[in-house]
Amino acid sequence: MRIHRTSGSDVLVIGGGIIGLVTAWRAAQRGLSTAVVDPDPGGGAARVAAGMLAAVTELHYGEEMLLGLNVASAKRYPRFAAELEAASGQDIGFRACGTLAVALDTDDRAHLRELHELQRRSGLKSDWLTGRECRRLEPMLAPGVRGGLRVDGDHQVDPRRLAAALLTACERAGVVFHRHRAERLSVVRDRAAGAVLADGSERAADQVVLAAGSLSARLAGVPDHVLPPVRPVKGQVLRLTVPTAYAPFLSRTVRAVVRGSHVYLVPRENGELVIGATSEEMGWDTTVTAGGVYELLRDAHELVPGITELPLTETRAGLRPASPDNAPLLGRTALPGLHLATGHHRNGVLLTPVTGDAMAQLLADGELPEVARPFSPGRFPSAAPVSQEQPA
Ligand code: GLY
Repeated sequence: MRIHRTSGSDVLVIGGGIIGLVTAWRAAQRGLSTAVVDPDPGGGAARVAAGMLAAVTELHYGEEMLLGLNVASAKRYPRFAAELEAASGQDIGFRACGTLAVALDTDDRAHLRELHELQRRSGLKSDWLTGRECRRLEPMLAPGVRGGLRVDGDHQVDPRRLAAALLTACERAGVVFHRHRAERLSVVRDRAAGAVLADGSERAADQVVLAAGSLSARLAGVPDHVLPPVRPVKGQVLRLTVPTAYAPFLSRTVRAVVRGSHVYLVPRENGELVIGATSEEMGWDTTVTAGGVYELLRDAHELVPGITELPLTETRAGLRPASPDNAPLLGRTALPGLHLATGHHRNGVLLTPVTGDAMAQLLADGELPEVARPFSPGRFPSAAPVSQEQPA
């Protein structure tokens, strides 16, 4: 194929999902000329995600390091939402509604008690409620609910609106969009120098950010020892609609672990009720299966029997970009000029504000802020960075 070289930008972001867009927006705000490569910017996993900002209720054993980043990002959300809404002129559906995690049987209750203890040891705020107290908060809950954890700090945002607002904010900040697929990374004299796109053009840049979600591990031209160790983890998600006559159906996010599977119901102010999500190691498969839909509806129905009355308006599957330790890869790689912002797994929406801030600081000032340093790609031997490199 003939390659047409073009004049370049300071920063080229490969991937226009929410992580790529927030990186581009924040970089442009720092005065860097920035371009994004993506055939369909604003798409990706955020199109499927429910948008829970669940730093506390999604705490897992062994993920204490990630907790610090999650909490830092959750704290930034109110200001981030206000700033993005002002910059884009769009509502992103940020809703400070809190979350209720409930137990349906004795095993679930033991599991929740463990989670409560882990949250307490981690300095997080959550309150134990009896089943009756849970139902007083959320009258649509099943009579069998045995108890629950009230977490008033775990909120929600609408990921589709978030992506649309980021796209507009990027455009208004002067970010240039190349609506093509990146075919391969350009490397010149052992340094990342841009990308060759599917239309045959080559976009040059001083710094390249690979933020292509699960696809980040597949970009041609990236040396093997630099390829990020991310893999797709499939999640099936359903969308129902709550007719106005039924409102308020739920006033906050309700979630549980039912027979070992996580299920959550996220009610939006516009009447959408999102039910998620399966977690499946199925490679690149994004088929919505009868089994996936059945399990989600069965588990959600055990929690909130009244869902059977609601119209089912959408079923979708997306791919979470998962890393070996479930935490993102943020920062420079062993290939000078190439940075990563990927591997956000279950927390892409939550981590959007802190990722944008961290990546912009790296791109503009040459180093990651303290909060993001533990997430350097260098923690995985395959993606070890070289010693501190100054920005170009
Ligand atoms: N954070 C929710 C999920 O990944 O399903």
